Amino acid sequence: MRMVWAGAVILAGIAGARAQEHAGEHGPADLNPTQAEGRRLYQQSCGVCHTKPTITAPLFGPQLSKLVVEGAREAQAKKQIADGSPNMPGFKYNYTPGQIDAVVEFLKLLPAPAPHPAAAAPANPPR
Ligand code: HEC
Repeated sequence: MRMVWAGAVILAGIAGARAQEHAGEHGPADLNPTQAEGRRLYQQSCGVCHTKPTITAPLFGPQLSKLVVEGAREAQAKKQIADGSPNMPGFKYNYTPGQIDAVVEFLKLLPAPAPHPAAAAPANPPR
């Protein structure tokens, strides 16, 4: 019994730390059920390749944000998520279309990344 409790306490600690780690980075806390489902799937399946690099998780795919699912790019993004690419697994066998939609709804909440400093600097600064 004591062992079970220790395990539960450790798990709760990990869950708390992870929630804190993700707070702020993934947008508003009050998500609707679809967005919350999307966030869960994203953290489970996508974050490993699509989250800003840390020592333990170098960024492999591009950083995802609302930009990749904006307007006409939404259909393209859904196709990429379903079918994958040589560098990315497809999720159509793991996810229902509704789950893919949920991930996309969640991506729409992610703010666009700050532009790369080099890209932001004017090529020919006025003198
Ligand atoms: C194994 C690493 C990996 C995983 C896991 C992964 N991706 Fe990707 N993803 C990539 C790479 C690499 C690219 C860059 C394009 C390419 O090479 O296909 C990419 C590209 C994308 C794009 C296109 C981005 C753009 O600029 O248009 C979307 C959208 C995307 N991923 C969504 C997701 C979602 C959603 C998940 C989780 C369900 C996911 N990816 C899981 C590696 C991954």
